[in-house]
Amino acid sequence: MGPVGLFPLWVLLSYPDVLLAAPAPPEDAPHHLPEPGRFWHITDLHLDATYHLADDPTKVCFSSKGAPAIKAGIYGDFLCDSPYSLIQSAFTHMSQVTPRADFIIWTGDSPPHVPAGELSTSMVIQLIRNMSETLRDHFPRLPVFPALGNHDYWPQDQMPTSTNAIYQAAAKLWAPWLQDQALSTLREGGFYSQLARPGLRVVSLNTILYYGPDKATANDTDPAGQYRWLEATLDNATQNLEKVFIIAHVPIGYLPFARDITAIRQPHNERLVSIFRKYSHVIAGHFYGHTHRDSLMVLLDPDGEPLSSIFVSPAVTPIKRVLEPYSNNPAFRMYLYHGSDFTPLDIWQYYLNLTEANQRQRADWRREYVMTEAFGLKDLRPQSLLRLALSFQLPRANSFDKYFSHFMVSYDDSIHCAKDCKLSQVCAVLHLDHEAYSQCVGGRGVQDSFALL
Ligand SMILES: *[C@@H]1O[C@H](CO)[C@@H](O)[C@H](O)[C@H]1NC(C)=O
Ligand SMILES: *[C@@H]1O[C@H](CO)[C@@H](O)[C@H](O)[C@H]1NC(C)=O
Ligand SMILES: *[C@@H]1O[C@H](CO)[C@@H](O)[C@H](O)[C@H]1NC(C)=O
Ligand SMILES: *[C@@H]1O[C@H](CO)[C@@H](O)[C@H](O)[C@H]1NC(C)=O
Ligand SMILES: [Zn+2]
Ligand SMILES: [Zn+2]
Repeated sequence: MGPVGLFPLWVLLSYPDVLLAAPAPPEDAPHHLPEPGRFWHITDLHLDATYHLADDPTKVCFSSKGAPAIKAGIYGDFLCDSPYSLIQSAFTHMSQVTPRADFIIWTGDSPPHVPAGELSTSMVIQLIRNMSETLRDHFPRLPVFPALGNHDYWPQDQMPTSTNAIYQAAAKLWAPWLQDQALSTLREGGFYSQLARPGLRVVSLNTILYYGPDKATANDTDPAGQYRWLEATLDNATQNLEKVFIIAHVPIGYLPFARDITAIRQPHNERLVSIFRKYSHVIAGHFYGHTHRDSLMVLLDPDGEPLSSIFVSPAVTPIKRVLEPYSNNPAFRMYLYHGSDFTPLDIWQYYLNLTEANQRQRADWRREYVMTEAFGLKDLRPQSLLRLALSFQLPRANSFDKYFSHFMVSYDDSIHCAKDCKLSQVCAVLHLDHEAYSQCVGGRGVQDSFALL
């Protein structure tokens, strides 16, 4: 049976509703459902401690790099990284949401986007310390599972393959959340794994080691031995009947807003994708940051069967470059996951309308969408995400426009994504390896993705 299940292709094409209203399989009968688990995902805080309301708009924040922040308000500006008030208001709102989360994942990037000369190793450590302590003040009882971002190093992106001041500082700062075994690999290579609850292991990868600008790893086929460690960790998890959440800063796959560019170096992308396919039976979900935008991917096997659900969470920082046509409103999210098989069930996405918050001088964080409701899905398992991605191409379906509005965290609904923009987006959702992605963007187009079924 093909990935879309019971319905032949002509039914899907003629009756788009069928796609989204598929009946739940019998094993999901409600009386077997345990309480769902919940966790927060925050990412890309990028604190700019220089942010202040100045008469000269070019002096509001170092992160605007001299560009005038003419709409600056107390919660920030779209040309600046986060003022402390924005981050505090986000954490305060999160701490008031019920039902409570079981834990928090935090996928990195604490320092601001400023030239290397404005920072130093000790300033970067200070910023990671500030964010770690601010988080702990707001959530004294919640475990936090962090991952390092490309800005969490000085100079940025240059993560080494062995122990150094930053990995050591992270291990000290995160000792209240992590056990000794996790701290020891964190100190050596910037990665670790730990059980979040019985049967559920968080694997926090240092994907900066695979990131293009990292010169320290340029000639290395297995920087810091992370691949060897990852496969051993996934083998052990399989043997111990655990499920795994993969968390990391830089995602796998292709950048959705560009053409033919992988987020990490292409050979590393191929290698990670093949490891993640091999171990998809033990991986319950992938959670990344770094792009600052809200997107998803579904990992398919070479026959088009959906294997894994992959989520990229939007940033807290609203920053964009001067010439970028759009940015993202500040955002964080809660995931709901199945209480016994740990598969992803839903996202509650929250955002701050930054323009409105500055006008009213009040931060009213609101729920932007609930994923299953927004798209008529029954859960966020790989099969459901594949259905959603295929619906983007159906005539008269509005799901892609909604997806793209979410991509910008409701920054501006008058900006549309069609033709080449849409092709890049949809190919990036469905195709993570070079061969499949190239076929999707080149000539064949996504329509032919149906041929994969
Ligand atoms: C973090 O930095 C902000 C802005 O500079 C400062 O106001 C705050 O006191 C610092 N907090 C901690 C815990 O270091
Ligand atoms: C990688 O190899 C190139 C070419 O041989 C060399 O110039 C460069 O210094 C090497 N980089 C590292 C980090 O070893
Ligand atoms: C895997 O399990 C073995 C046996 O318990 C242990 O010695 C090893 O350290 C584990 N490897 C990893 C990467 O956790
Ligand atoms: C955000 O607030 C501005 C100013 O009040 C408003 O024009 C805009 O429509 C709002 N955006 C959303 C997505 O609600
Ligand atoms: Zn970032
Ligand atoms: Zn980043």
